[in-house]
Amino acid sequence: MSKAERFTITAALPYANGPVHIGHLAGCYLPADIFSRYQRLRGRDVLFVCGSDEHGVPITIKAKNEGITPQQVVDKYHVIMKNAFEALGISFDIYSRTSAPIHHETASEFFRNLYQKGELIEKETLEFYDEEAGEFLADRYIVGTCPNCSFDGAYGDQCENCGKSLSPEELLNPRSKLSGAIPVKKSTRHYYLDLGKHQDEWLKDWIEGKKDQWKANVYGQCMSWMGEGENKLKPRAVTRDLKWGVPVPADIPDHEGKVLYVWFDAPIGYISATKDFFATAANKPNSVKGNSWEDYWGEDRSNLIHFIGKDNIVFHCIIFPAMLHAHGGLTLPENVPANEFLNLEGNKISTSRNWAVWLHEYLTEMPGREDELRYVLTANMPENKDNDFIWKYDGSDRTTDSYQAKVNNELVNNLGNFVNRVVVLTHKFFDGKVPESAAPSEDATMVSEKLSALKTSIEQNIENYQFRAALQDLLKISAFGNQYMQSHEPWKLIKTDAAKTAEVMNLCLQIAAEIAVFAEPFMPKAAHTMKKMLGLNPAAELWNHCGKGNLMAPGTPVAEPAHLFRRVDDAEMDAQLAKLAASKTQNATPETPEKNAVAPACAEIKYDDFIKNDIRVGTILEAERIPKADKLLKLTIDTGLDQRTILSGIAEHFAPEDIIGKQVCVLINLAPRKMRGFESQGMILMAEDAAGKLYFVNPEGVINNGSKVS
Ligand code: MF3
Ligand code: ZN
Repeated sequence: MSKAERFTITAALPYANGPVHIGHLAGCYLPADIFSRYQRLRGRDVLFVCGSDEHGVPITIKAKNEGITPQQVVDKYHVIMKNAFEALGISFDIYSRTSAPIHHETASEFFRNLYQKGELIEKETLEFYDEEAGEFLADRYIVGTCPNCSFDGAYGDQCENCGKSLSPEELLNPRSKLSGAIPVKKSTRHYYLDLGKHQDEWLKDWIEGKKDQWKANVYGQCMSWMGEGENKLKPRAVTRDLKWGVPVPADIPDHEGKVLYVWFDAPIGYISATKDFFATAANKPNSVKGNSWEDYWGEDRSNLIHFIGKDNIVFHCIIFPAMLHAHGGLTLPENVPANEFLNLEGNKISTSRNWAVWLHEYLTEMPGREDELRYVLTANMPENKDNDFIWKYDGSDRTTDSYQAKVNNELVNNLGNFVNRVVVLTHKFFDGKVPESAAPSEDATMVSEKLSALKTSIEQNIENYQFRAALQDLLKISAFGNQYMQSHEPWKLIKTDAAKTAEVMNLCLQIAAEIAVFAEPFMPKAAHTMKKMLGLNPAAELWNHCGKGNLMAPGTPVAEPAHLFRRVDDAEMDAQLAKLAASKTQNATPETPEKNAVAPACAEIKYDDFIKNDIRVGTILEAERIPKADKLLKLTIDTGLDQRTILSGIAEHFAPEDIIGKQVCVLINLAPRKMRGFESQGMILMAEDAAGKLYFVNPEGVINNGSKVS
């Protein structure tokens, strides 16, 4: 295969510290999947790779909070993500992971290669260090008071309360999250990639050469990073003093206690995933025509296309290309079609505030609607600007692109309805077989011209990463089909002109068949169903035969009409909105209850009485409902001393999945009590406002489990 026909397609490796939401899907996984499926249908050589990004400080912090190992954290989310992608039909040729041995080998070898070529400079710097824990502290491991808003739980890199970016030096009252100790500065040595050198030698010219080819937002962001003099790219540290990650190879000086920086190892994950594919794929699909990883990564052998969200631009357009170039013999990205962000119901998607639609939840809550989600997200893809995802149609302009409106008006009423009617009428009038149509007619020419033009448009749009426009083209075909059918009314025409009815129905079937083929990149399951309904072989390579209106040979039997898309009713949308509303109330700052609504004070007690309560900070590791007990949740809590079961009457206030990982205050010396067949070994403290709403009582910031509360 020549380079022009070969594509190495990557989608950003998602962090394995949480599940995937619709913002990720619209940002990079769906466009990458549409593009990959399309290129395969064109008969091109495609390798589509992804995997979990399993290193990085957030994963170690999550592990610490949950009292489990980093490996346990990534094992959990790797599986959730892998399954959810598969269920949505994201057609990765491989979904690998960066904790895999093949990745560790590939990344270490890459680092060694750069070191041996003299591409890495070693520098000594002063970094924050926790003397009690004996560890250097990543910015995220340092907490303190925000100089901007006084929030006492700001991280060394950002205050999550006011959003300000910070450096650890700016924090007031800084302390280590590991031990609580005050961090001190200690000298350490790290390896750096000299990006400024690459900027001067080739990188800036290379990016300037992409001016007309790359999206304006991507190109603009790259150029803004590469200033002159003072503003030139700075050397970038590619090692860290951490335990979790790919260790710096043992033959490198000063390797002790160091791992590769996560943004150094993660993109190499694309290469290791490719190697993993060739090492493990049992049945290589026909669309993978190469035989080794070098076919997809060797210099100028393939078109490397990185699908990412806009927050990843600098890593894919500057740092990773510099790494690839420094290594030598490897291909550089052809294009990096980054998307902007998708918002949800007018607000930024946020994992910590649970303001998101999680893919794995959608799949179970709205089963059988995978293609509906793909469709709505593609139609609203934030290609050139941020965009909003809205569930319900309420008659207002704001909601014309909502999930409900798109599914009901476009998929059910337009596309699905057309294909369905064609099949039903073929059964009714022509015994379920494609009718014979008279030789070249004016209508046939008109239909094939229309199909040919729209085919060209879909192809150009996809090749230019304009997926929304390509999807609109698909809809234009079904709108055209509906219109053509409506203008001839075959159900009336059959009474007066059987021959013309045969011609009209033949052409409608041709239109439906091409819809089935063109729908594949966007809605693979529905496309498969349509092909089967129409008697087309779902495995046949039909794309290159489209645009002529002759896919369906006369006499071909069509199958019974099958369900394609289901109308979404208000109740389903209300259920989704209610879930979001629950996140909102949970996150809202509680309003101060009315003064007179506060409960009266209890009788006075002695200090000695109070300190009999042994209250500790703990973390909720597991939470589940108990059958037939509406109020109770069964919690497993890490108290720092042990893990124990506590039954808590909060089931009407919190969903189990929302509280896992939360820190709480636990009364641990309360006498055990049997409830509903379980022994409850303590009590978690909750605040209750005048309205009866419950709030967790927890420490500001994250502290060690087992810390005493008094
Ligand atoms: N894990 C990163 C994120 O979710 C993306 C990594 S992309 C890779 O933002 F190139 F590094 F793999
Ligand atoms: Zn702040």
